Amino acid sequence: MADVIDLAFTVNRQQVRLRTRSDKRLLDVLREDLRLTGAKEGCGKGECGACTVILDGQAVDSCLMMAYQADGGDVQTIEGLAESGRLHPLQDAFIEKGGVQCGICIPGMVLAAKAMLDRDPEPDAAAIRAGLAGNLCRCTGYTKIFEAVEEASGVGSLKIPASSMTPAAPGYFRPRTLDDALEVLAQRSGEVRPIAGGTDVLVQAKDGTARRASLFDVSAVPELKDIREAEDHVWIGAGSTHTEMMESKALARWVPALPQACAVIGGPQIRNRGTLGGNLAHGSPAADTVPPLFAADAIVELVSVNGRRDVPIAEFFTGVRETVLAPDELILGVRVPKRAGLRAAFLRLGQRQAQAISKVSIAVAMVFQDGRPEWVRVALGAVAPTVIRALETEKALMSGGYEGLKRAKDAVRAEVHPIDDIRSTQAYRREMAAVLLERAVRALAEA
Ligand SMILES: Cc1cc2nc3c(=O)[nH]c(=O)nc-3n(C[C@H](O)[C@H](O)[C@H](O)COP(=O)(O)OP(=O)(O)OC[C@H]3O[C@@H](n4cnc5c(N)ncnc54)[C@H](O)[C@@H]3O)c2cc1C
Ligand code: FES
Ligand code: FES
Repeated sequence: MADVIDLAFTVNRQQVRLRTRSDKRLLDVLREDLRLTGAKEGCGKGECGACTVILDGQAVDSCLMMAYQADGGDVQTIEGLAESGRLHPLQDAFIEKGGVQCGICIPGMVLAAKAMLDRDPEPDAAAIRAGLAGNLCRCTGYTKIFEAVEEASGVGSLKIPASSMTPAAPGYFRPRTLDDALEVLAQRSGEVRPIAGGTDVLVQAKDGTARRASLFDVSAVPELKDIREAEDHVWIGAGSTHTEMMESKALARWVPALPQACAVIGGPQIRNRGTLGGNLAHGSPAADTVPPLFAADAIVELVSVNGRRDVPIAEFFTGVRETVLAPDELILGVRVPKRAGLRAAFLRLGQRQAQAISKVSIAVAMVFQDGRPEWVRVALGAVAPTVIRALETEKALMSGGYEGLKRAKDAVRAEVHPIDDIRSTQAYRREMAAVLLERAVRALAEA
């Protein structure tokens, strides 16, 4: 049975307070409680973008958020774009360019475009495509939509200022300190499960393998946020989103493969909500943040009411979707040692560019001394039950030169243990591991 909770947030500049069921997603509250039906449920799994709204200035999939995660926030829906009876310039452009056909995808498209233009008022063609990569349209063929966004760009700021509102604080569902979050986990151990970005757990709920009523939100816990540089390491809070990691200067300098990986995860809505902690705890062998962390010798910091412990990343995963995380523990963050002169690259192969799970991924990190490799790490995703480090491949690369690379390619073919599945065959994954290795090593040697 779901509880009843109070929520307070701003929706289209109106302050809204309401009492609702705790197991509702933001999409449900918008459509059922507030009768704002512009946001649609297409897939319910973060794949189509039909449910896109803007939360605190970012495009998000409202099907992948619990309503209490928006408590105290600022929500913009399609119903709030027109002002004083006049359509928003983006809406005008969609109509003028013929970007609207059946209309199902359009509220989500317009809001994803608006969030993009609010950040970058004059995007080029590639940026427009990337900004809309989380939204599907089954009618227009996209060209007219891209033209509409281009037409609306450069007309000056289209931003609607965000408003703030004191949260209603819906009890244990949204703790605001680490101690409170750990207390919830300790007292209800086995009964409750954290939700951060919701981009894995709410897909599981849709598939019937997780219960929305058992979730509680850790995304408002300040101790899980932040990316900080210390003298000998960089600390990345578990609650850091892929967008935050992608934009971090400290990570670009000290763990460059990680922001490269974050940049190709999902589409903008997934990157705006999905977190490092969720990517690790989900335990998928295809999780894209993991190979860069293997290649950086990262340490995962876990915390419970009983204290903290450190786990080297290579010991964190025990099988497909299995980790050493205890039911009363949270991932606090990840520590990555700084290494002078480090060069690193992440490459992956997916079914398509956006919204695709990796078929093979690789992170290579190297330090060169006088043109020769002095330190090497190679980690691969989606080619074994967990992400793996390829030790023989590393040894071969240490010998340097073309011969070293050739032996490393043979070694990596032998070290991966891929499976045949719906996304790819074993043989293709094995060969592509060698191809991606060569591309990454060549790029680093020439950098
Ligand atoms: C359309 C789509 C595309 C995607 N594309 C990619 C992709 O390209 N690459 C990729 O790697 N992933 C992808 N994902 C998966 C997902 O977005 C990522 O794994 C994301 O990082 C999960 O983070 P989250 O915060 O949303 O996790 P949530 O769904 O909130 O949680 C996932 C799991 O982690 C646990 N958890 C969350 N935070 C903590 C914490 N601090 N401590 C302990 N446990 C915690 C939860 O209890 C849950 O078991 C995609 C998902 C979708 C829906
Ligand atoms: S309904 Fe498809 S992404 Fe939310
Ligand atoms: S206009 Fe019909 S799905 Fe996009």
